[in-house]
Amino acid sequence: MSLFLHCFRRLPSNTFISHNSSPSRLLICKQCIQEVNLTTVKSSRTFYSARGKSLRFCLSPPKAWMISLRKAATVSNSLEISAQAQKIVGTWLVGCAGMCFGAVILGGVTRLTESGLSMVDWKLVKDMKPPGSEAEWIEEFERYKQFPEYQQMSNEKEMTLSDFKFIFYMEWAHRMWGRTTGMVFLLPALYFLRKGWVSKALKPRLAAFAGLLGFQGFLGWYMVKSGLEEKPGPNDVARVSQYRLAAHLGSAFILYTLFLWQGLTHLLTPIQMPNVKSVNRLRGLAHGVMTAVFVTALSGAFVAGLDAGLTYNSYPKMADKWIPDDLWAFSPKWKNIFENPTTVQFNHRHLAESTVVLIGGFWWMAKKAPMHPRARLAVNLLLGMAFGQATLGITTLLTYVPTPVAAVHQSGSLVLLSFAVWVAHELRRLPKL
Ligand code: HEM
Repeated sequence: MSLFLHCFRRLPSNTFISHNSSPSRLLICKQCIQEVNLTTVKSSRTFYSARGKSLRFCLSPPKAWMISLRKAATVSNSLEISAQAQKIVGTWLVGCAGMCFGAVILGGVTRLTESGLSMVDWKLVKDMKPPGSEAEWIEEFERYKQFPEYQQMSNEKEMTLSDFKFIFYMEWAHRMWGRTTGMVFLLPALYFLRKGWVSKALKPRLAAFAGLLGFQGFLGWYMVKSGLEEKPGPNDVARVSQYRLAAHLGSAFILYTLFLWQGLTHLLTPIQMPNVKSVNRLRGLAHGVMTAVFVTALSGAFVAGLDAGLTYNSYPKMADKWIPDDLWAFSPKWKNIFENPTTVQFNHRHLAESTVVLIGGFWWMAKKAPMHPRARLAVNLLLGMAFGQATLGITTLLTYVPTPVAAVHQSGSLVLLSFAVWVAHELRRLPKL
């Protein structure tokens, strides 16, 4: 596609121009952009791009409707990227989000099977090859035996070499998945940049994604280190710091959200929502819903990190009380919020309930607002998943955290977040030209 904007010349009013022409000044009136069939125009926060070769723009409208020079540059930049290429880039970004999803599930199962502390050091390349011979396995097992987790576990039940192999392979698979995610992001990113398929707006975001992916790996090891280093007391269990677990999970959720948002921007034809009060109110609230799901999930990481799902296994009351006696047992008081299993579970329950109520209210407001069917579908799925996720959480608690149920509850939180992201994306304000 060749629509160039680098030299400037005024064209007569209301002339139409095809892609093969080379206008020196592109002035797109708002009305024309809106009149172009929405299925042939794809937009994101900063650009509009054409999907079909036959797309024509109206030129030289009144000055008030001119797009700014900076915007024109991004228009030109993305117009040069074919619709096909944008679709490929979008699919790749959603694929990267999928890889993050997989990493979260695998990480959760690794934690739930108590496998996360089986690899006692971190080497970018050397870690990739698991022990081969029996002698190498024995050597690895001996190294693991030096750390608190083994010493504690062997007091309860002797661990065999094949038990060790299982937990080692779990952690190894999680680490390898992380590295694969890095490659699934990096290699296509370099290829797309070389092909010129990455819009100006996306370039700095890709750099941020690369940084976040690296940071995610660092947080993973920082978390594991806490489980290897911290000496548990006689009644404590060797486990990673709940603060670091929450940071690792939270940053995975952020990365997932960013990948998904960008992917949807590339793949979904934008919907121009009517600019009415009810829709504007929902637009703001959609971000509140995303935040509420995120905060509830973070509080869930504290429940998981402290094994707080193994106390007060009743619902809705906690041991026949609405407010348990030991809610503020720790001193200073703020410590209870992050370190007292009772308080951590209490907070997670009530944050989850508030999130479900918020989503219910959002759904009710959306029911009355003029909405595109696709956006309405997203809102309905969000509500259904909110109830599903709460039910899964209660089941996890009442059944004393069995691995399969807890793993499904964890993935459910990402599914819920995905619907919240989708809703907010559908409702986002499209750029004004
Ligand atoms: C909006 C609803 C909810 C969301 C988004 C959510 C999210 C989460 C997340 C992300 C975790 C951490 C999982 C992990 O790292 O392995 C978690 C753990 C947990 N949640 Fe929820 N949760 C919700 C509702 C509930 C409810 C209503 C209950 C029960 C009253 C509950 C009980 C639990 C328990 C017991 C755990 C610990 C499981 C474990 O140790 O792996 N959740 N939740």
